[in-house]
Formats: sequence, C-alpha cells, structure tokens
Amino acid sequence: MDKPMYFIHYFMKHHELITKAQEVLNNNYQEKGFTIPCQGLYPFQWNWDSGFIAIGFAHFDMEKAKKEIKTLIDSQWSNGFIPHIIFHNESDTYFPGPDFHRSDLSKLSNTSVPTTGMTQPHILGFALERMYKVAENKEDVLQFIKENIDAIYDFSMYFYNHRDPLNEGLAYIYHNWESGTDNSPIWDDIWSTMDSPSLEFQRRDTSHVDASQRPSKREYDHYLHIIEIAKKYNYEDAKIAEFSPFLVQDPLFNAVLISSNKSLIRLYELIGGNEEKVTQLKHLTAKSIHSFNTKLFDEALGAYCHYDLRTGKLLRYVSSSSFSPLYAGIPSKEQAEKLVYTMMKKFGKDDQYLCASFDPTHERFNPKQYWRGPVWINLNWLLYHGFKNYGYKDIAERIKQESIEIIEKNGFYEYFDARKEAHKDNTAGYGGNNFSWSAALLIDLLSE
Ligand code: SER
Repeated sequence: MDKPMYFIHYFMKHHELITKAQEVLNNNYQEKGFTIPCQGLYPFQWNWDSGFIAIGFAHFDMEKAKKEIKTLIDSQWSNGFIPHIIFHNESDTYFPGPDFHRSDLSKLSNTSVPTTGMTQPHILGFALERMYKVAENKEDVLQFIKENIDAIYDFSMYFYNHRDPLNEGLAYIYHNWESGTDNSPIWDDIWSTMDSPSLEFQRRDTSHVDASQRPSKREYDHYLHIIEIAKKYNYEDAKIAEFSPFLVQDPLFNAVLISSNKSLIRLYELIGGNEEKVTQLKHLTAKSIHSFNTKLFDEALGAYCHYDLRTGKLLRYVSSSSFSPLYAGIPSKEQAEKLVYTMMKKFGKDDQYLCASFDPTHERFNPKQYWRGPVWINLNWLLYHGFKNYGYKDIAERIKQESIEIIEKNGFYEYFDARKEAHKDNTAGYGGNNFSWSAALLIDLLSE
C-alpha cells in the first residue's frame, strides 16, 4: 500500500474501533451518573475504574466524564477516604455485596450510600489532569476542577494521615482487592501464613466467567476473612494496621498516589492560591519518592517489589506493577535502565505481548487467570506513558500498538493472554467482555 492509502486505511480502521469503544462506554453508563466496569460481573461503581472511564469519556462526552468523577467523590467518608465499590443500586449478580461489607459499621462512613470499607489505587489526581488536557472547553473543565479538587486532595492526605504508620511517605494496603491486582501470585506468600476458616458462600463471578480465569475458592476464603477482621474493628485504620494479616506497601498503589499528587500540584498551580496545599503535597511527594527508591527497589531483580510490613521483607517477584513507578517519574535514569533490561528479558520476548501481569518466566505464571499472567490495558496505559516519558520510545510504541492489536483481534475484554500463539483464533480475551476501561483507554491511546 502506498503511504496516503495506508494512512486512510489506518484512520478508517481506528475510526470503527473508536465508535465501538464509545458504544461500550455508553452502554455501561447508568442513569445515576456512573459507569459499571461490565454487565453482570461488576454491576456497581468501582473506584479506579471510574478514573480510567472518565479519561475515555473526556474525549467525546465531557459531561459524563465529570459526572463519573463527581458521583465517585460524593461517596467520600469524613476522613477523606474514597471507597473501592459504591453500591448505588441493588444487584444479585455480585458477591460480596453491601450486606457483607457493612460500611455502616464505621462511624466515618458516608451515610448517603453503602460502600465497601476498603479502597483502590488513587488515580483521581491524574485522571482529572488528563481530562483537562484533552478538553476542548478548558474553562469549563477548570471550573469543575476548582469545585472538586479539594476532595481529591483530601483523598491523598488520607493515605499520609492514616495509612503510613512508620511515617515514611508510603501507604499500606490491607487487602489484595485494594491493590487492584486481586489474585497476583505475589499474595500466595501471604496466604500461606494464614489459616482462614473455610467459609460457605455463593460466588457469583464464576457464573459469568469460566472459573479457571478467576481466583480459587481458597483465595476467596482469605479475601473474606480479612474483611471480617476489618469489620470486627469497625474499619478503624489503626486497628487494621495492628491486626490485619495482610499489610503491604505496593509499588503500583504508591506510584499512582505519587503521580496523582504531582497532578494535583500542577492543577493547584494552574488555579492559583492554595499555597499551603501545594507546599504540603510537594513535601510529602518528595518524601514518598525517597522512601520508594530506598525501600522498594530490589537491585538483584532489577525491579520494584512489594514490601510485606508483617514480615518486614520484600516480596521478591516481578510483575507489571514493578514497572509502574516509571509513570510517576520515580526511578533514576540508572534504575529506569535496569527496569528496561528486566522487562525485556522476562516479559518482552518476540512471542509475547507486552506486558504480562506477572513474570512469565516464573512457575507461578498463568497466562489465563486474572492477575496471574494476562495482559491488562490499564497497566499497559500506565507503562506506555511511563516508558515514553523516560525516552524509551520504541518500547512505549510497542506497548501501545500491541494494546490496540489485542483489542482489535479479540474485542473489549477485561484481560488478554500474553502468549501470541494463543491469539490465533481471536479467542484470547478473558474475563468480562465489553469492559469499560479497555474501551476508555483505547480511545485515549488512539488520541495520542
Ligand atoms: N475486582 C474484584 C472482584 O473481582 C473486586 O474489586 O470482585
């Protein structure tokens, strides 16, 4: 094909894909002003999903993007905490629902809507900044930012005030569902120290998705057991820090917190005033970056790892989360080079799509099972920007093109097989279909 023809073809193909992506988002949008991640499997509002979804909507329907963020922050607790699931509606397609989580046990919870008592990676700062960047009517979005930025600042401060017992500038998570990488093999080490009771419950996820692509029953025992402990202490942070068997400083979780802080600094500077908040954010962010690089970087592995506060040791595994600090500008140039080496050696072979969620050379790698190996579009989006910002243009471009390719081949799935050979029949998309953040971030990637 000659060049102009190639570009016309490329444009038409992507135009179709963008139209489909917009349809996915519009179909998942709910009357109450939020977007479900997908039908059946995830019938409520999820915290970090909403941030990514708002980025997608910002390209073609800014009102929905704003509503998405607003509806989420309306669920904020009085201590700044924004929960992981907001149960705006009833549904019998999901377990565990509001009756299990019982946010009302906490005296700090939001009385207007039931939620979970845990949170998710804080991406709201940079979601807001991205909305501003892509906005055609900048004034309108800036007005929205002015009205809502303090709630997002309070969410950042929540982590420093209540989730940092060693005062290091690193937040802990107390549940694997807070990490976003729910059933990562990294957590296996923690499960092996726990003696959770075998509970009787009716899972719903495995009625929507093949059980081999989801966490095991034993893993769910642990997930529910940790929640029972948190409930016993009415979701009080200090008690959770003392008694939760799961207490981890997660590199992805802290990287996006740092990145969101940096976005908040730039947005406050754009708005003007708010000097105290900017000073506070700058101080805490610098402290976070220092601790991050001294505590979470494993020289021998050439990657960032999770730190287990219960054992006082690094959980020495490489996952896609290990490279996410690039997104937040955390690594030095030398550390970034080491990350590139580790990623290309373990994750970047020619027969693999970037970027598997867990080390493909490790015996715990499973290419089909949720966060134990498949490729996720949200992590790819973070890595694309991360590598690009550090000047690794070829790797960034490869991540972008492969993200587009796997969606084009298989559809807007929740996750995808990392092995190229598995894509022969275009049936290598797994988990939920018509998945909102895969659609939202594809729109954003194609706008680059
Ligand atoms: N993603 C989790 C689930 O599978 C909860 O955040 O239910």
